[in-house]
Amino acid sequence: GGDFNQKIDYVFKVVLIGDSAVGKSQLLARFSRNQFSLDSKATIGVEFQTKTLVIDNKTVKAQIWDTAGQESKRLFRVEGNAIAIAVELLGQATVWYAETDRFICSPIRYRAVTSAYYRGAVGAMLVYDMTKRQSFDNMARWLEELRGHADKNIVVMLIGNKCDLGSLRAVPTEDAQEFAQRENLFFMETSALESTNVETAFLTILTEIY
Ligand code: GTP
Ligand code: MG
Repeated sequence: GGDFNQKIDYVFKVVLIGDSAVGKSQLLARFSRNQFSLDSKATIGVEFQTKTLVIDNKTVKAQIWDTAGQESKRLFRVEGNAIAIAVELLGQATVWYAETDRFICSPIRYRAVTSAYYRGAVGAMLVYDMTKRQSFDNMARWLEELRGHADKNIVVMLIGNKCDLGSLRAVPTEDAQEFAQRENLFFMETSALESTNVETAFLTILTEIY
């Protein structure tokens, strides 16, 4: 609501990627609605939220896409007999429906949906959990998928989330900085729980896109 008469100068699509449970959905909830939930459920399929901001006197609509880190949950949202693969918001995003009586997908459809997730994205956040080394080690694989599907000029930010759990840290800041530097990524440590750097991370990427 509220933006009925608002003129939108730009719509920027930003995608969130990273392993399951690193906090992608909670980063998005914090940024778009200033909400946080400790018992957040794993994402199924594809979702997105929008937030309208003013950058340099221009109205920018950020359309942030979120999907499941777990491959088996990445494609389908079950809605009655049909399975919807993304949600739609009045022409702001695409929606794919698969009519099926079996809860499986073909490899072809999988590829189609993966590329649709990245299509048109001008920014990406690669999220790991700084208390889970494996989620950081997997960043290279996520980056490979991203580079295989996204536009080559996409702005990418590496995010080490859950910095409120400092005593459980398993990824030194320097390791992440080094990786980010080598791969030409922006880098920030965040906490969706405590709101640390969440707004800054999104604003940095959106400003850089702009
Ligand atoms: P998938 O949808 O399965 O890919 O996971 P996700 O990356 O979206 O993770 P989600 O946002 O659902 O968060 C997973 C768990 O981590 C939830 O219990 C969250 O409450 C918790 N969590 C998320 N961000 C933070 C954070 O900054 N600090 C702490 N302490 N917990 C967090
Ligand atoms: Mg999620």
